[in-house]
Amino acid sequence: MSSGLKPFWRYYGGKWRIAPRYPAPVHDTIVEPFAGAAGYSMRWPNRNVILCDADPIIAGLWAYLIRTPAAEIRALPAKVETVDDIHGPQEARWLVGFWLNAGVSAPCRTPGAWMRSGDYSPCQFWGEPARERVARQVDAIRHWCIIHGSWESALDFAHDWHGISAATWYVDPPYSGKPGQYYRHHDIDYSALGQWCRNLHGQVIVCENEGAEWLPFRPFHNAKAMTKGGGRVSREAIWTNDAASAAGAA
Ligand SMILES: C[S@@+](CC[C@H](N)C(=O)[O-])C[C@H]1O[C@@H](n2cnc3c(N)ncnc32)[C@H](O)[C@@H]1O
Repeated sequence: MSSGLKPFWRYYGGKWRIAPRYPAPVHDTIVEPFAGAAGYSMRWPNRNVILCDADPIIAGLWAYLIRTPAAEIRALPAKVETVDDIHGPQEARWLVGFWLNAGVSAPCRTPGAWMRSGDYSPCQFWGEPARERVARQVDAIRHWCIIHGSWESALDFAHDWHGISAATWYVDPPYSGKPGQYYRHHDIDYSALGQWCRNLHGQVIVCENEGAEWLPFRPFHNAKAMTKGGGRVSREAIWTNDAASAAGAA
């Protein structure tokens, strides 16, 4: 297990907490075609990381984090009543907006009820500790790439632009059942995605909820959502190809 980074923001369906349960990457390159907050790659930040997301906010936010100097992050206001208080690039408002509520799928404009209650630990919501975490970590991802596009583009990018033949593919799409509908982009052809995953070269790890049938998933882990006072349990399932199984899949 590498030392890893902590999440740049807390994202709905983010896998950072349970990422160590998945098979460790066996390749130098990790590709996340459905990046979100890239919970898996955050555990292995020194690899060549290629992220892809169809949501322009997610892609824009990663591009911002990859290019922005730590000093610029530290210059953002630690206290905000609304993201309109931030006079900087739009991406800075998105970053802070994600930190104003727990595990949301899009940035918020004002703090949610939990943050307003003040009853939380440092780094749960935006403030000096969260800002310092982001600032301290941005230098560790300068070598990462982000593609704004649909999952299919990640393969062309890895092969044609980088000449990468085999990689560790961590595929975490919006789930085919109801939970996936909470993302701004969730219109997926799962049967095409399943075939695509089977054809990928390298180690392939695919996430879903129990009950999904577009690949022969097996039960993996019951993950608790990090909401105030406990919350729902997500019954996670997994599919791995032979290369991933040989590398010690659960
Ligand atoms: C389950 S989340 C990924 C969570 C991520 N593993 C994490 O740890 O934060 C799924 C992501 O897929 C993105 N997405 C939805 N449709 C997409 C598509 N057609 N191509 C690429 N990304 C897509 C969503 O915007 C969302 O960020």
